[in-house]
Amino acid sequence: VAAIIDQTNRSGHRRQGAAYARLADSLRQAIVDGRLPQAARMPSERELTEAIGLSRTTVTRAYTDLRQQGYLLTRRGSGSVVRVPAVPGGRVDHLLSPSSPDGGDVIDLTCTAQGAPGQLSDAYARALDDLGGYLPGTGYYPGGLPVLRQRIAARFTRRGLATEPDQVIVTAGALAGLATACAALVRRGDAVLVESPTYPNAIATLKGSGARIVAHPIDHLTSDWDLAGLTTALGRGGVRAAYLIPDFHNPTGALMSAAQRSDLARLLRAAGTTPIVDESLADLALDATPMPAPLGSLLPTALTIGSASKTLWGGLRIGWLRASRDRLDDLATSRLRLDLGAPVIEQLATAHLLESYDEIIAERRRHLLEGRDVLLAGLAKHLPDWRVRTPHGGMALWCALPRQGSTLLAQAARRHGVALASGPNFAPTGGLDGWIRLPYALPKGQLAQVPERLAAAWADVLSGRLRPSRGGRHRIIA
Ligand SMILES: Cc1ncc(COP(=O)(O)O)c(C=O)c1O
Repeated sequence: VAAIIDQTNRSGHRRQGAAYARLADSLRQAIVDGRLPQAARMPSERELTEAIGLSRTTVTRAYTDLRQQGYLLTRRGSGSVVRVPAVPGGRVDHLLSPSSPDGGDVIDLTCTAQGAPGQLSDAYARALDDLGGYLPGTGYYPGGLPVLRQRIAARFTRRGLATEPDQVIVTAGALAGLATACAALVRRGDAVLVESPTYPNAIATLKGSGARIVAHPIDHLTSDWDLAGLTTALGRGGVRAAYLIPDFHNPTGALMSAAQRSDLARLLRAAGTTPIVDESLADLALDATPMPAPLGSLLPTALTIGSASKTLWGGLRIGWLRASRDRLDDLATSRLRLDLGAPVIEQLATAHLLESYDEIIAERRRHLLEGRDVLLAGLAKHLPDWRVRTPHGGMALWCALPRQGSTLLAQAARRHGVALASGPNFAPTGGLDGWIRLPYALPKGQLAQVPERLAAAWADVLSGRLRPSRGGRHRIIA
């Protein structure tokens, strides 16, 4: 906690006012940012006094303030724990489904995905040509079509994670891969570590499988993964699995460094925690940043999830799960409980698209880079006090608002023709109403209009005239 307070102070957070008010403010900020997650145990007043060198009275007053405002719950004899207050008007179930923009000129930023590449029709035409060869068979391929498994395995091997085709199970997208992994691995009540923020539907899938979520905060503006914090979280033991997005994390865009990967691999190994690595965005580097080796190559026990949705097209509904041989039987069984395989024609089309993968990706990257830069330039002009770090890859900006209000902003933006997913959607254990995700996958002509519209919406929020809307859910799929 002392380190978190120090970090908040260094990040330029409020420096005026009485010492107790500044301390309360730093702790409040850490709670709403998810760095002190729901139910985290706080140090006693005496312990905190010793750790941060302020007077006992200062700490007592700060705790009293936080208790009165609903950020701390104190039970006599058992200390204080963090409470993340509910966001007004923000009902968040982490189950995001296609948004239905109201038509007109609504710019839909609830989804990080692009339209189909030019090569898609040709890939389907070739898939249809191939189909004849499959018609005499039953059409059931629970592990996936051999030709596709082979191409996916070859890509893993090329990236440094040696893989044979039988180690790949083709699924209906990355989320279905996660559901398959959960069904094989997670029992009701098992602790599963996730990053905070993280991809919303993964939170829902994990919770749906009975996982008890342990949130590990990512510091979005500075250092990304906090290995010291992870050491503590994993060191307590009993964490069954860790769902991680080390490659252009959704929503922050963070890329885990090679050094952090090897430290993390050591921690996970020592803790006996199985990593579920989501590589959905791994091929979307936007600049010359060298890509570290896949996290799975450092951890033989890792389950690695991938997807065609972000790189090729979401409409294919094709993803995959890669695992070590000793896990394959369990995964195959759990897959058969969920479904019996992905459609043959889509698998064939994906196999053909993988033949032109490098060309398609180069075009994807060019488009995303353009979108990212248009959005960053517009934000700098129209919303200069929003803080954002330029991501080296992925599909979205993760912006720190100057104050809480992401849920209200999503509401206000709708009236200015922008559909947004508010920060709390990405918070596994509450908070994050001071953040907003802005995908940059749409064409630059549309993205260029976003900052001005958001500036008008943010002015509405700051005006204080907005009332939280009841039942107004903000939904995202990707
Ligand atoms: C990290 C991550 N995992 C999974 C998904 C879902 O992918 P799919 O469409 O393959 O199920 C997304 C979509 O945005 C994502 O960002």
